[in-house]
Amino acid sequence: MGPARAVHSSIQGAKYDFTVAYNRRWPHAYFRAHLALDYIIPDRAKPVFEKIFADYRRVRNKTKIKIIDIGCSYGINAALLRTDLNLDDLYAAYLRPGGSLSRRDEIEHRAFFHNHGLRDDIQFAGVDPSFRAVRYARDLGLLDVGITADLEARDLTDKERCALADADIVISTGCVGYATERTFAHVYKASAASRPWVAAFAMHPFSYENIAAALRGFGLETRLVNRFRQRQRRFSAPTERQAILTTMSKLGMEDRLERTTGYIYASCYISAPPGEML
Ligand SMILES: C[S@@+](CC[C@H](N)C(=O)[O-])C[C@H]1O[C@@H](n2cnc3c(N)ncnc32)[C@H](O)[C@@H]1O
Repeated sequence: MGPARAVHSSIQGAKYDFTVAYNRRWPHAYFRAHLALDYIIPDRAKPVFEKIFADYRRVRNKTKIKIIDIGCSYGINAALLRTDLNLDDLYAAYLRPGGSLSRRDEIEHRAFFHNHGLRDDIQFAGVDPSFRAVRYARDLGLLDVGITADLEARDLTDKERCALADADIVISTGCVGYATERTFAHVYKASAASRPWVAAFAMHPFSYENIAAALRGFGLETRLVNRFRQRQRRFSAPTERQAILTTMSKLGMEDRLERTTGYIYASCYISAPPGEML
């Protein structure tokens, strides 16, 4: 059994299941469920991604960049990275008490991001099987391209492949585990001609080993950057805490932060062609 599958089977049933909120017409249920466990990884990842984008722009001498977000959901990374908003701003905007969801909300959502000035020097292409979430992010202009696909189960179509071409950086938060080396390889292959970097956060105890190996096949070196390790979210229950700590210990992963803080952390992996990583 590969490392990803071994982790899955050892925490299966104990890991909190957010999936009912993934594919709704509106993101409110997603934000409500994630705020309840203080899901914070996109917020903590934002300054790390910004540093990586700045390094990339310097190395490649580019200003406009195209980002592919694997597991883009409702366009949360795009919303954070294309505005000066933080995740609390999004939680507050989406979780105002009362009010039913209607066409008026859609107009309000659009105005909300418009008023915060979506920067257009960072273009986003999102990949996620949750078609309603992807449609929402597309409709609001957070994503320029939305690919609704489970690339664990199938390859990209020619049209989707074209839409992912010429990317600069592939990013991901909260998705490694659902997406494995299969998805990363399909996505990378579509854009391999422009040799994008890959920057991904993998929640503990999910392994990045097979993804790094797949990216090695495209000539990329992968580094685990310990100083970029970030909080993902709180443990949902003692049973989840136990299952995750047991698996981490079996895998020889250092769990001091999890034991001390009550939060599950995510490791940051950066892949780039040899000699390009700063
Ligand atoms: C915890 S959410 C993370 C969303 C967002 N990146 C964030 O950090 O807020 C996990 C996302 O992974 C998506 N997902 C599930 N299976 C996937 C797959 N095979 N490929 C890509 N995304 C997948 C879900 O639909 C969901 O949007």
